[in-house]
Amino acid sequence: MRLVLLGPPGAGKGTQAAQITKRYNIPHISTGDIFRDNIKRGTDLGKKAKEYMDSGLLVPDDIVVSIVKDRLTKDDCKDGFLLDGFPRTVNQAHALDEALGEMSLKLDNVINIDVAKEALISRAIGRRICKGCGATYHIEFNPPKQNGKCDVCGEELYQRDDDTEETVARRIEVYMEQTKPLIDYYSKKGIIINVDGKQSIEGVFKDIVKSLK
Ligand code: AP5
Ligand code: MG
Ligand code: ZN
Repeated sequence: MRLVLLGPPGAGKGTQAAQITKRYNIPHISTGDIFRDNIKRGTDLGKKAKEYMDSGLLVPDDIVVSIVKDRLTKDDCKDGFLLDGFPRTVNQAHALDEALGEMSLKLDNVINIDVAKEALISRAIGRRICKGCGATYHIEFNPPKQNGKCDVCGEELYQRDDDTEETVARRIEVYMEQTKPLIDYYSKKGIIINVDGKQSIEGVFKDIVKSLK
């Protein structure tokens, strides 16, 4: 299954990706996670990406596209993949179509998680992530059993640098301008699945599984 997860910042893409990839046994490819990993390791790519990410802007298309193209040629993508946070511009969507075309492949579905603007800021600001395993929590909507500690591995939880009110607002603006047009792009191709992201985490997942049947 070759899937894309689309949705504004804080919509729940990463949260749903964790469950979808487990269920369908496909790799989770999050461009945001790839950049954060590079920032942590202090690579040149990480240094470049950080400037854009900290101000809530998109990393330039050419950088992102070459990373994803390379990733899709890896062995674990043979039977499918889930892209989370890519494509994010019409330009990136064209590049993805082209790259898949060269491998005689195409996307099966694009899952669009729909959440109104008003709910996004509180979702992002309350988000906490595990330093050890990357599991995602929310202080109010999905709290860990023990305050500040991961349920899965017991490591400490942290807040993303770009999860401040100001940067989240900027990221939402950027989404509206540059990413939202992709809903139309994939609707026209007839492969979009629209899911109501305002439900519980389990409710959203159930809807996704139902639509993929
Ligand atoms: P990226 O890491 O992709 O961030 P994003 O798109 O802004 O999305 P988020 O990760 O913030 O939200 P999410 O939808 O994954 O929500 P989550 O599941 O965590 O990108 C970061 C940056 O990298 C970009 O700004 C850009 O600079 C750069 N970048 C990345 N890809 C790029 C690309 N292709 N091109 C150019 N630049 C790129 O959930 C959020 C919170 O809500 C959590 O606390 C969660 O517990 C909670 N929650 C989830 N679901 C629910 C629910 N149903 N009800 C209540 N709470 C919920
Ligand atoms: Mg995410
Ligand atoms: Zn953990």
